[in-house]
Amino acid sequence: MSRILVAYFSASGVTAERAKELAAAADADLYEIRPAEPYSAADIKWTNPLARCNREWLRKAMPPLADHDAPVADHDVIFLAFPIWYYTAPLIVNGFLKAYDFAGKTVVCFATSGGSDMKKVEKSLAPCVPGADLKLGQMLNGGVNAAAVEALLATL
Ligand SMILES: Cc1cc2nc3c(=O)[nH]c(=O)nc-3n(C[C@H](O)[C@H](O)[C@H](O)COP(=O)(O)O)c2cc1C
Repeated sequence: MSRILVAYFSASGVTAERAKELAAAADADLYEIRPAEPYSAADIKWTNPLARCNREWLRKAMPPLADHDAPVADHDVIFLAFPIWYYTAPLIVNGFLKAYDFAGKTVVCFATSGGSDMKKVEKSLAPCVPGADLKLGQMLNGGVNAAAVEALLATL
């Protein structure tokens, strides 16, 4: 078992691909964060003005998790990958972090987006991981930079 776990949420598959690349680059184990009820295509039409009510719901609702089987306790370093939703992490990621004990662990965030950065992520996720060292890693829109991942791992 690797000391690194890549835990990822992906609604439409982009982050899933990057998370798999990340796990390969870091020689890490992989875990998918899934909602108990998958998001529908209509739910995540974020650019559609008609989806305004969904937008409010997506921003405010923390969906129940499909399982609580992430092997967090077995890993020292968790790479957390997710899409940016409304400039920060989707609420399911907050729910995932709250469901486990990350104290003493290092949590490094990675994200994909339509162009936004992850500056707001730390503020929204830090309260969910008391006692952990939460770091901002890399945006993965251009793919995973294996050399950068190696350099990051050397600092942990
Ligand atoms: C509900 C929702 C909100 C989004 N908000 C943003 C945003 O604020 N900024 C941005 O650049 N992209 C935003 N996006 C685009 C996603 O971050 C981007 O398409 C991402 O790569 C999708 O990853 P996935 O396929 O793993 O779900 C949003 C997408 C959704 C579904």
